[in-house]
Amino acid sequence: AKPEPLKIMISGAPASGKGTQCELIAKKYGLVHVAAGDLLRAEIASGTENGKRAKEYMERGQLVPNEIVVMMVKERLLQPDSQKNGWLLDGYPRSLSQATALKEFSFRPHLFIVLEVDEEILVERVVGRRLDPVTGKIYHLKYSPPETEEIAARLTQRFDDTEEKVKLRLQTHHQNVEAVLSMYEDITLKVDGNVPKEDVFSQIDGALSKLLMDSKFTSGSL
Ligand code: AP5
Repeated sequence: AKPEPLKIMISGAPASGKGTQCELIAKKYGLVHVAAGDLLRAEIASGTENGKRAKEYMERGQLVPNEIVVMMVKERLLQPDSQKNGWLLDGYPRSLSQATALKEFSFRPHLFIVLEVDEEILVERVVGRRLDPVTGKIYHLKYSPPETEEIAARLTQRFDDTEEKVKLRLQTHHQNVEAVLSMYEDITLKVDGNVPKEDVFSQIDGALSKLLMDSKFTSGSL
């Protein structure tokens, strides 16, 4: 059979390091990073009705309704770049109904990565997280500080990155996580996400290079 572009999902609690690992995976393997949270924040930034509605849920740490999220993710996965290079889906699905919706559209991942991180570490990661609006890169004041003064001066913080809001986001995560995990048991890779980001990546990298040695799969950079 003709080799297929690699399709991966990455899941984990808020601030478990999904976005950070996706930057590293996308850079090495050329997969298209599709992050549900980033798509929603882009919608908010463009001031659409969907964006306004989504923000109300995000401020409460709740899941944005499926009628907004599902189509948005589906459309992004159907874009030519995702179809050609393979995709890396971050922060979706977050509920059984989202997983089912994706399956109905015939999107089936080859690997489901789960980042496992202890709860007290998550709060510290959220509170110290900063974003570079120019490059989109994720920083942490303590663990991944900005490289220059110039970058440091322009860093921004997400509106839902407070200790109070992360507690609500964690609650939502706990309510839904088991149902999602049960859908992908046969293709799940559990990764220890408590260690430095390079060590988290080497666990993922090992699994991905093994998959790509199999001639069934291709990726954007290979
Ligand atoms: P979303 O944007 O997806 O947020 P999240 O799941 O809470 O995840 P984060 O983006 O906070 O964290 P991350 O795991 O990417 O961690 P990062 O790499 O940045 O969703 C936001 C909201 O949108 C949701 O609450 C919901 O309302 C809505 N939404 C999203 N998807 C939805 C869906 N499918 N359905 C409905 N609603 C949806 O790392 C965090 C920090 O830690 C950074 O500072 C980083 O530098 C640092 N760090 C990372 N790795 C390490 C490491 N190994 N060691 C030390 N520091 C590290």
